[in-house]
Amino acid sequence: MREFDEQGITAAVLARMDQCGDARFRQVMTSLITHLHDFVREVKLTDAEWMGAIQFLTGVGKTCTDKRQEFILLSDTLGVSILVITLNHPASGGTTDSTVQGPYYWEGAPELPNGANLAIGVKGEPAFYSGRVLSSDGTPIAGALLDIWSGDGEGTYDLQMEGDVGMKARGRIRTDAEGRYAFRSIKPEYYPVPTDGPVGIMLRRMGRHPMRPGHIHMMVSAPGHQAITTHLFAAGSEYIDSDAVFGVKESLVTPYAKHPPGAAPDGTRMETAYYTVNYDFRLRRA
Ligand code: BEZ
Ligand code: FE
Repeated sequence: MREFDEQGITAAVLARMDQCGDARFRQVMTSLITHLHDFVREVKLTDAEWMGAIQFLTGVGKTCTDKRQEFILLSDTLGVSILVITLNHPASGGTTDSTVQGPYYWEGAPELPNGANLAIGVKGEPAFYSGRVLSSDGTPIAGALLDIWSGDGEGTYDLQMEGDVGMKARGRIRTDAEGRYAFRSIKPEYYPVPTDGPVGIMLRRMGRHPMRPGHIHMMVSAPGHQAITTHLFAAGSEYIDSDAVFGVKESLVTPYAKHPPGAAPDGTRMETAYYTVNYDFRLRRA
């Protein structure tokens, strides 16, 4: 048959895959086509809406550059990224939860000595981070690597700053023989995801705000263990209950204890108030 009605078209498209030799690809495409056709039928998509969707996706593609990935932002804001992460990285057996990577990871941050200040010259209230990296059974992991990045105390990442400012608030720290890490950075502030592209237009039309609560990113890896990509979220930060990319997990919400000026944990004499944060990461054995 060559002509299809609004139900028959779905079976016809699926039947064209009968020569597909890749079972997984076939499964994924069968489901995608079935859901997509059901969606079009359910909302009775109009010609104008269909063309609007094509133009929107074209705009998303055109907004991507080597420094900006608007498709990932679309996936993040639609909750798809965190759904994929939650399906593939369930935090069972007491391991640390994973969350979204976001677009501001920059490979090749300098490896700095345990205890180093990652945020020299970066705006923001000082914060001293410490803790351990452990196996899921509680064994400390020596030589685990934390690859850390955040925006400044106003929520701006180096990659967003005017001109080539180089790396700011980034660094890699290795745990010592007892699995301990420590570093100094800033207390991260809430900030908006980029809103000057098609995803921003979509969020405004949906009546949604673009904000992420204050957080610091890290990838934590160690030989013989599964690496994780995660954040620590500042407890009490604005937007902690309405993250624009749905990345908050209770287990990652961490108190920032405030201290008056005085001697910091690394012995530095602080002239201003500062924060301390303590968090142990737990990795699953590979
Ligand atoms: C971030 O946390 O850096 C981020 C995550 C998703 C979208 C935009 C930014
Ligand atoms: Fe971020």
